[in-house]
Amino acid sequence: MSADLPETDGKDAMILALERARIFVGATAPNPPVGAVGLAADGTVLSVQAHERAGTGHAEARVIEECRALGRLHELHTVVVTLEPCNHEGRTPACSEALLQAGVKKVIYGADDPNPRVVGGGAGRLRQAGVEVIQDPKHQEACAELIRTFSHWSRTGLPWVTVKTAWNLQGSMVPEVGAKTFTTPESLRFAHELRKRADALITGSGTVLSDSPLFTVRQVEDHPEKKRILVLLDRRKRVSAEWKLAAENRGFEVVDDLDLEGALYNLGQRGCLEALVEAGPELSGAILSSGFWNSHVQIRQITPSLDRIEISNHVHWNHPKSRAGHFKQL
Ligand SMILES: NC(=O)c1ccc[n+]([C@@H]2O[C@H](COP(=O)([O-])OP(=O)(O)OC[C@H]3O[C@@H](n4cnc5c(N)ncnc54)[C@H](OP(=O)(O)O)[C@@H]3O)[C@@H](O)[C@H]2O)c1
Repeated sequence: MSADLPETDGKDAMILALERARIFVGATAPNPPVGAVGLAADGTVLSVQAHERAGTGHAEARVIEECRALGRLHELHTVVVTLEPCNHEGRTPACSEALLQAGVKKVIYGADDPNPRVVGGGAGRLRQAGVEVIQDPKHQEACAELIRTFSHWSRTGLPWVTVKTAWNLQGSMVPEVGAKTFTTPESLRFAHELRKRADALITGSGTVLSDSPLFTVRQVEDHPEKKRILVLLDRRKRVSAEWKLAAENRGFEVVDDLDLEGALYNLGQRGCLEALVEAGPELSGAILSSGFWNSHVQIRQITPSLDRIEISNHVHWNHPKSRAGHFKQL
């Protein structure tokens, strides 16, 4: 199937939609990041929008809203969207119905809706009503990658777990006495990007007792009003109530679950799409050997001023704790 994507300022519309959606990765849980572009029949871009956070308009609905506000809704012909339009009402009305009501003639979408309950839903409904619906093969993979954590959560009920570990020249994770880190400024910035996209952070008592990290996003601008869950694994209860209170005062909801599996299940129930493990060798090692992880990001010091970042992925759709069918669209 070939999608004749309209050219827009030298970039195709799906790239514009992807770029807009990527700004909100980490801001939309439990919904996925989605971007959409509204085009006139001649390919003129009328609107570029994204879903910004749960409870606010979906990307396609915002395109329609913007076209209406500009007095150009009658020109809206094609909507290009990174994810198949939804066909179910949550906190907001179904996008398939909104597109029909707006008189849209053509919909080009990237990724299929991964929710096992709604596959084919929005596209099918639109086709049935006479709208031309095309899946864009060129950007399908990039669109699926954009919602990787959401797809995992939709299918398993668990957050995507990213374990970040940093290793110095000697192959150790433990910084020299008096230091909290040994990574380059670029790697530090990258580590804060990882925090920014996470809905929860997981750490161990050893890290808190030796470093007392702030766990806030500082090297990059954080999503406004984002509140993260900070899971502290501390079976012996060595971390003080004062430390937890201080973390809460920094905006975290501190949860001290006793075991990792229970913590992940609870995070999934709470709609967390991605959890970032920032722990020392003991807990990181235990998580990596348990199988309860999806990405391992290793920052390896090559020289005192150069790091290499290695990423390995580990996807287990048939996880024992899998809750296929668990899904909530907000
Ligand atoms: N390079 C890096 O990427 C990095 C990142 C973070 C920290 N660090 C460094 O790591 C050092 C601390 O190392 P660490 O290994 O003691 O810290 P850790 O892994 O953060 O914490 C270890 C503690 O976590 C608790 N824990 C709870 N559930 C656990 C489980 N299922 N398996 C294992 N542990 C569990 C244990 O205490 P209970 O038995 O009481 O539960 C254990 O003593 C510090 O020097 C810090 O600077 C390095």
